[in-house]
Amino acid sequence: MSTLTHQGFTLWLTGMSGAGKSTISDALMERFRSAGAKVELLDGDIVRTNLSQGLGFSREDRDTNIRRIGFVSELLSRNGIIVVVAAISPYRAAREEVRARVTNFVEVHVDCPIEVLAKRDVKGLYKRALAGEVANFTGISDPYEAPLNPEVLVRTDLETLDESVGKVWSELTRKGLISPND
Ligand code: ADX
Repeated sequence: MSTLTHQGFTLWLTGMSGAGKSTISDALMERFRSAGAKVELLDGDIVRTNLSQGLGFSREDRDTNIRRIGFVSELLSRNGIIVVVAAISPYRAAREEVRARVTNFVEVHVDCPIEVLAKRDVKGLYKRALAGEVANFTGISDPYEAPLNPEVLVRTDLETLDESVGKVWSELTRKGLISPND
């Protein structure tokens, strides 16, 4: 693969648990790295064991988590780094707050119908949430406010991983945030 010239930007993947945020992020990371790009991944599950250890899933705690991720994204992207974020980030207001601060914020809605998510249930959390055993579970006992106007919308129940990654790549190219060196 050819190398890449890029600006600093933050690719913010929002969507419900199990929708495919981490899978798409990992594929994007692989693509950025093999093109020699300067890139960092902030994945919700990993952030919560480090930067946000001890936070729960109340609105307040989620907003704190998102602000922390947003703050790091701001520092990195303004210094020319690509940041890939994979976090449910269910509240529109918190995402908009980050958008206002971050250089080149690109929002990707990783969408999938809840029935499909409940069927996939990779972590077994939907089964428990539907049985009333998980409080504040996004999409079941807690809200998910879908983006109204995301830069990219992917539907992981209808598209292959390559198609979803391709959509993101095209948008970054269209915006002039990445360009191949060949
Ligand atoms: S966010 O709302 O603050 O953006 P984040 O992406 O960091 O959430 O973490 C979500 C992950 O935490 C999920 O993928 C899931 O594995 C786990 N989790 C545990 N409890 C919940 C809950 N009540 N709601 C959503 N996710 C939960």
